[in-house]
Amino acid sequence: MAIPQPKVFSPTEVGSLKSLVDTGIKEIPDAYVRPENERPTATPVYTESIPVIDLHDLDGPNRQDTVSAITKSCEEWGFFQVVNHGIPERVMEKMVEAHHRFFEQPEEEKAKYKAEGPQKPVIYGTSFTAKDERILEWRDFLLLMIGELNAQTAECWPPVIQDAGLEYASEVRKVAVKVLAALSESIGIPTILEKMMGYERVVLNYYPPCPNPDMTFGLSSHSDVGLLTVLLQDDVGGLQVFHNDRWVAVQPIRNAFVINVGDMLQVLSNGRFQSAEHRAVPSSSQTRISIPLFSAPKSDTLIEPIPELINEDNPVKYKSFTFGEYVAYFLNRSHSGKDDNLAFAKIS
Ligand code: OGA
Ligand code: NI
Repeated sequence: MAIPQPKVFSPTEVGSLKSLVDTGIKEIPDAYVRPENERPTATPVYTESIPVIDLHDLDGPNRQDTVSAITKSCEEWGFFQVVNHGIPERVMEKMVEAHHRFFEQPEEEKAKYKAEGPQKPVIYGTSFTAKDERILEWRDFLLLMIGELNAQTAECWPPVIQDAGLEYASEVRKVAVKVLAALSESIGIPTILEKMMGYERVVLNYYPPCPNPDMTFGLSSHSDVGLLTVLLQDDVGGLQVFHNDRWVAVQPIRNAFVINVGDMLQVLSNGRFQSAEHRAVPSSSQTRISIPLFSAPKSDTLIEPIPELINEDNPVKYKSFTFGEYVAYFLNRSHSGKDDNLAFAKIS
């Protein structure tokens, strides 16, 4: 089965958000306004420290300590930042620069990449584009699909992204492998999680400045569907994670990556690792960018709790399904939180 594609509001339907903001609007259009009880300001947002893990020691005699730190963060937060991850600064800088160059192009140039038909390896769109999306999200994006990483992978991508994107994907993928390897070790079945990696998507998120940042989200509350997300962000800030029943603002750390557990890792671990619910708020004055790499299984991969983990004390919590089925369910709905995603997989 092919990976289902998101429905995309093409620039001819609603226009890109950037082109709208560039007209100098003083108020956000109604289509972006959330009901009062769903706004970024509806509940307090706390500043609390989120785990920061130095990956340097993964390759040395203190590996075990780092493996434990990663494991604990995945059990308690599903969310952490990593430093000393081994990705050259030059690779990150080049990608950020290419990101800005892509979005700053004329609309006609970007519009060449809007979705047409299924299985396009690149999609330019706006908002989230779920089938029943009720309220638009304050975001434009460019999605790059990556199966095999080879010279042909980037051929259909916008020229300004090709080099930077390929290098970025291959480097960031290594971080995902390192983290999944650590978690496999904790589970006690070496390499089992890395083996689930099937393909990646790199998304260039572009959040223009917003005249009413209290009324709308760049991305509203959701969990990521795959195994693991590794995200680079600039220093504007706006990412928030839900932890112990409250929203916590993630303080950007220069050159760090934010890592979050996706729903598939929660299912495979039978709930030991927690996928993280998160959201992004726009800035009133600055454009913010972020570049997540989503590592996911192949569409036809069977997902179920790892049988070796199941016993009398740890009964099976999730059913079996293919990853493609899960994605189809996700793309049919608005972003509406983590439980809404995982309802698909839960044994009731
Ligand atoms: C995402 C996401 C957060 C951000 O793209 O899934 O959660 O800070 N992005 O851009
Ligand atoms: Ni996300």
